[in-house]
Parts: sequence; C-alpha cells; structure tokens
Amino acid sequence: MSSLISRRLIGGVFRFGHLRSLHSSSVWSGKVVQFKLSDIGEGIAEVQLKEWHVKTGDRVSQFDNLCDVQSDKASVTITSRYDGVIKRLYYKVDDVAPVGKALVDIELEGEGEDSAESADDDKSAQSAATDKSKKADGGKSSDEHETSSSFALHSGKVLATPAVRRIAMENKIKLGEVSGSGKNGRVMKEDVLRFLGHIGPAETTSKASDQPRPAFTPLSGQDKTIPIRGYTRIMMKTMTQANTIPHFGYNDEVVVNRLIDLRAQLKKLASEKGTKMSYMPLFIKAASLALTQYPVLNASLDSSLENITYKSAHNICVAMDTPGGLVVPNIKHCEQRNLWEIALELNRLQEAGKRQQLDRNDLADGTFTLSNIGAIGGTYASPVIFPPQVAIGALGKIEVHPRYDNHMQIYPAHIVKVSWAADHRVIDGATMARFSNLWKEYLENPALMIAEMR
Ligand code: COA
Repeated sequence: MSSLISRRLIGGVFRFGHLRSLHSSSVWSGKVVQFKLSDIGEGIAEVQLKEWHVKTGDRVSQFDNLCDVQSDKASVTITSRYDGVIKRLYYKVDDVAPVGKALVDIELEGEGEDSAESADDDKSAQSAATDKSKKADGGKSSDEHETSSSFALHSGKVLATPAVRRIAMENKIKLGEVSGSGKNGRVMKEDVLRFLGHIGPAETTSKASDQPRPAFTPLSGQDKTIPIRGYTRIMMKTMTQANTIPHFGYNDEVVVNRLIDLRAQLKKLASEKGTKMSYMPLFIKAASLALTQYPVLNASLDSSLENITYKSAHNICVAMDTPGGLVVPNIKHCEQRNLWEIALELNRLQEAGKRQQLDRNDLADGTFTLSNIGAIGGTYASPVIFPPQVAIGALGKIEVHPRYDNHMQIYPAHIVKVSWAADHRVIDGATMARFSNLWKEYLENPALMIAEMR
C-alpha cells in the first residue's frame, strides 16, 4: 500500500544512476554507486539542494535520509537504498542540481571487486541495481522499489544546517521555537545565538556630525545577492511566461450577505466533518458551476497558438501564501465535489503548503485559478494568468459598505470585490462579463447554487 502511495506521489521522479567500477581505500573496499538525477518528467530540468543529511565519510544504511531537494513540483527527501560509505557529495546547499547529473557517490558495504560487475553503461548498471532491490523487497518491480525506497515526502522539519542543529542541541533549545531569518524560514546561526541572548537585535549605528548633511547608514549589514530558489523560482518562470499573454481585466462587486449567513451555518457543522469552512469553498464551487456554462474559461491554449483545449475536469487552482512564497496547487474535479469535499481538500492543500510538502500531483493539471488576496487585505487586484490557463480571478476582502436596496433604502451590504483577468487572444470581454455575472448570481443567491449542485 505504502509503495503504491509513494509511487503516485513521487511518480518515479528520480532513479539511481549507473554503477561504476571505482575503487576506494575505505574499509569497505567496495564498488562505488553513483546516484544521478535522471529524467524527472513534466519538463523538470533541475532541483534545488535544500539540505544534506550526510557528509563525506558518513556510513549510511538503507532508508537513511541523504538530502532534501526541491523540484519545480515538490519537496522530497532522498533516502539511501544501500548500506555503505558516502564518498562524494556533488553539490552544496542551495546549489541547483541538473537532471542527468550525479548527486552522490556511495561505496557499497561488503561489495568487493569479486561481486562487482563492471557496469559502465547505464543499462547494465541499472539492472544490477534492480536485481539488488528485488532481492531486498521480495521481488517488487524496480519501478515500485525505486519510488518506495528512494524517496519520502519532505518531513516538514525546520530548515537548518547540521552545524546550527548542533548548536541548538548543545544548548537544549528546540529549533521550531526559533524564528528563522534565512531563505524559506531557514534558521541561521545568528537566529539561534539571538534566541539564546548571545547577540542583540540587529544593531543600528549613527554618526553625530556638526555639519547637517544627509547621512544614511545601513540598518542591517550590507547588500546581499541571493539566488532565486524554491517556490519563488517557479513563480519567476511561470510569470515570465505569463508576460506574453495579453490580459483583459474585468472587475465587479458581489453582495455576500446571504452567503455570510450560509457560511456561518456551515462553519458550525464543519468541525463535525473534520474540516473548516471558509468562504473559499463557496467561491470555488460557484466558479465551477459557472464554468460548466462557460467552458471556454476552463481551457488551455497550446504553445503554437493553434488550438484551444476545453478541459473536462474543473481542477481549480488556489493561490496560496506560504512560508516558502506563492504556490498554486489545485483541487481536482471540483465539478464532482460537494462543498465539504472541496473544503477538506483545500484544508489539506493549505496545511501541506504551510509545510512546503505539496506533491507534484497537487501542482499539476490546474485548469482555472482563484486568488483570495482578501485573506490578507485589499479590494481590487490585477491578477496574472497562470499559463497555459486562460482565466484567473482575484478576490478582495469582504467589507461592509452602504448600498441601496430595491426600495431605495440604504442597508449595510457585505461586499467582496472580484478582479478577473482573461487571455484576450481567446476570451472576449462579453464572455468574461457573462461568466462573472453568473458566478455573482450564485454567490448573491446561494440557494440557486445549492439547487444546481449534483
Ligand atoms: N474576506 C473576509 N474574510 C476572509 C477572506 C476574505 N476575502 N478570506 C478569508 N477570510 C477569513 C476566512 O473566512 C477565515 O475566517 P474564519 O476563521 O472565521 O473561518 C479567515 O479569514 C482565515 O482564512 P484562511 O485560513 O486564509 O482560509 P481561506 O480558505 O479563506 O483562504 C488561502 C485560503 C490559501 C487562499 C489563503 O490563506 C491565502 O493564502 N491567501 C493569499 C493568496 C495570495 O497570496 N494571493 C496573491 C497571489 S499573487
């Protein structure tokens, strides 16, 4: 069961590389196995090395963690499949490891020259590794073995180097309690020292001068240039692509007084269902119902700009603000899910996003996007399409404003502003406006939405 789950989550992303007839002076005197990052699929060309769990000379056993890597699609921990000694690490933390290149060399324990086949070509070496794996797990397919034994999802632990962990351990402090100032919340040495009170907050200096003149001194250290990594790297690539799309914008406001009543009722029941019910599941379901009538908005444009594919599934992406930056997982088949099912899946994705544990299936195959920037603040936004999709909506914060009712009486209206953007090469303004009107109708009259749910 677990191997099947692993395979689905990881999808055989990485494979071991070839065995080489290298020899070493270590006590094992064994054959050296070189791990390579081979074809990851889905166009992924590289991963970022997040953390090493081993160093050269360490002895490792099967299933020991070797390192954490972040691909465009997921965070994974790479585990050893062999007993042996680490001979070489090919990358430093934060390096980008390209697909097809070696990651680590392990000198195998108890594999002397006699037992080692000379296997300089990938094919024979791959089968040697497979034979070994079959023996180890009772004859599973190599595919199953590779995915189940080589990888585990990111453990979600605090990011820190072994040196920082050691300082924390020696001082008996929990790293989770230290606020990390590094990339993606990584806990740095200074953070631990500051936590221990060994250094003060970032110091500021000022110079007294008789001559009044503007004197600007840096508040905290020097400028620093850091490589763009992780979710931000994905955002950089996707948004660069999006910049080629001519965006059409359309804004409106939706009165959600009735929706607020409905949500309040559902919220009370949510804990019994083991979830929480925010407004998002309602916004998402209304979008799915409206997409059923305007399928051109749930579509993708091919790179040659020759074809548009109407997607049968409503895999609605939700922009998420996470400690690692913006990430956009999707809820599969919203057209088939009820509100509880959408809420459960949203909660799962939100929790996984917080821990940067989203797997690549969560991030793949989205067909339409909603961005609830109002969870943070603001009214209108200018959302940017997530290619190859053709439309996106951004929601502002629900606020109370005075509005007139049908009898020209002022009443307190709870209003959410929506900002749509559509790919104007294939979507015209009238279609976007009609879709938005229908979505708005569902939210202003939730009874109508419920009536249309299957
Ligand atoms: N207006 C008023 N209240 C809102 C709101 C809005 N637009 N959005 C959220 N809330 C409320 C929720 O109902 C919830 O209230 P509750 O505690 O009474 O249930 C509370 O704020 C916290 O909601 P949250 O945990 O954020 O859940 P959510 O389902 O509404 O949103 C995410 C989930 C992942 C979309 C959201 O947390 C998020 O990350 N938003 C930022 C998206 C972003 O960065 N977009 C920009 C992309 S460039």
